[in-house]
Amino acid sequence: MARISYDDEAAAAFKAVREVPRDGLGHWREAIRRYLDPMPGMSVVDIGAGTGAFAATFNDWFGLSVYAVEPSAAMRAQIPARPGIAVLAGEAGAIPLPDGSVDGAWLSTVLHHIPDLEAAAHEIRRVLRPGAPVLFRQGFPGRGDWASSWWVHRWFPETIRVVDTWPTVEQTCQAFAAAGFRQDGLEPVPETYRTSLAEFLAQADTFRRADSPMRTLTDEEFLRGKERLRRAAREAEQTPGPQSRTSWVDLLVLR
Ligand SMILES: C[S@@+](CC[C@H](N)C(=O)[O-])C[C@H]1O[C@@H](n2cnc3c(N)ncnc32)[C@H](O)[C@@H]1O
Repeated sequence: MARISYDDEAAAAFKAVREVPRDGLGHWREAIRRYLDPMPGMSVVDIGAGTGAFAATFNDWFGLSVYAVEPSAAMRAQIPARPGIAVLAGEAGAIPLPDGSVDGAWLSTVLHHIPDLEAAAHEIRRVLRPGAPVLFRQGFPGRGDWASSWWVHRWFPETIRVVDTWPTVEQTCQAFAAAGFRQDGLEPVPETYRTSLAEFLAQADTFRRADSPMRTLTDEEFLRGKERLRRAAREAEQTPGPQSRTSWVDLLVLR
């Protein structure tokens, strides 16, 4: 059961404000290349593909064929229709692909939505070719200083309490070990947002509709966060220089 309902409103909001801008993903490109070793003719499954931002990115960066598997019809409707991306209704526990048919699996901020991690691990094992990796882009509890690792937490610190309920690295590795996976890598990867704080402030209500930790905030917590952000945006406007912000999100690789 997903933590929020990705209905038409949430899907449109996600498309509008939650896709990570491509120009801030350079470090991801290099990290993914190291573990996936992409080559022409390879295919990957993007599980919980959402609005297809990463499916398009994998196709553009590496020329890979991507199966974008997504349970929400509203999110699927936002995935760009283009050669190289096949959009499929499905979920981590039921992937509509044949056995041993893909060279890698990608799950970006999806783990905490999966109700049965062991069942998902077995299903992912089934569709991967032997030795192929599964790559998670994920916030894990207990890794580093959350308040500084994801920039949203700085303005809306109460979002940390929900992230603390998400699967840990250890729980994830344990669930996937039952399907024969072993840890191959774990590293925080920086990603950069170049939108100004004033722009983020203007998007905050839309952002809240599309983000499961933000949805758990009470109205009071949300308004307090917006006020913090408003003050910071005012200060930033008086400071010369670019206003980019960097988050550190973990890449966990199992094989
Ligand atoms: C936070 S969004 C991430 C979307 C995309 N991966 C990205 O990073 O842009 C989480 C997505 O996981 C999907 N989802 C929810 N439950 C799922 C499940 N059991 N298996 C696969 N995906 C699921 C949701 O519908 C939603 O599109």
